[in-house]
Amino acid sequence: MSSPLPSSSSSPSSPPSVLGLAPVVPVVVVEDAADAVPLARALVAGGLPAIEVTLRTPAALDAIRAIAGEVPDAVVGAGTVITPGQVDEAVDAGARFLVSPGWTDVLLGAMRASGVPFLPGVSTASEVVALLERGVREMKFFPARAAGGTAYLRALAGPLPQARFCPTGGIGADSAPDYLALPNVGCVGGSWMLPADAVAARDWGRIERLAREAAGLSAGARCR
Ligand code: 3PG
Repeated sequence: MSSPLPSSSSSPSSPPSVLGLAPVVPVVVVEDAADAVPLARALVAGGLPAIEVTLRTPAALDAIRAIAGEVPDAVVGAGTVITPGQVDEAVDAGARFLVSPGWTDVLLGAMRASGVPFLPGVSTASEVVALLERGVREMKFFPARAAGGTAYLRALAGPLPQARFCPTGGIGADSAPDYLALPNVGCVGGSWMLPADAVAARDWGRIERLAREAAGLSAGARCR
């Protein structure tokens, strides 16, 4: 049986929450769909069950399909979703959450209609306000490091405490705990546990070790 999705609030009718899936979400670019299952198994074994496969390569949808079908302990989602057509393709392939680097009303409408939880992307206070106006409280903050990092997110928490974020972009093992310690951060996304040379060498053992370190980092940050 596949893992259940957490609810975004105490109400059973609330949409499930992406931010509640796991403190660290690996962001994966799959070049060869044959790598998807062993890579996902390594991430799950290391303690990172929520996996975002970016729709940036021709192999991405096959990768999502393979993980959804063969790695029951993973919660696979689609990232880099920027069109309504990609929303449909990703959900058909088995994506259980959707992430976008930005948003438009057209995209938001398609994401809502998909029935799976989603994170539209923001990088300014005005975008946050516009999403709150549309009833969306959970967002990706992208590109996190370039857009102001932890200082920017901390500054948003004062006037906009109802917004919660998954910062992504330029985050590493060194900075992830600082993001996770912020009150308005639910999880962080990143690719630091998936070095290009390890993926190219199909060194799943190294990826599992890096995933375990990432999962441990998040536990430490929560306890501080
Ligand atoms: C992305 O969409 O590429 C993510 O933000 C991952 O960014 P990173 O590779 O800098 O971690």
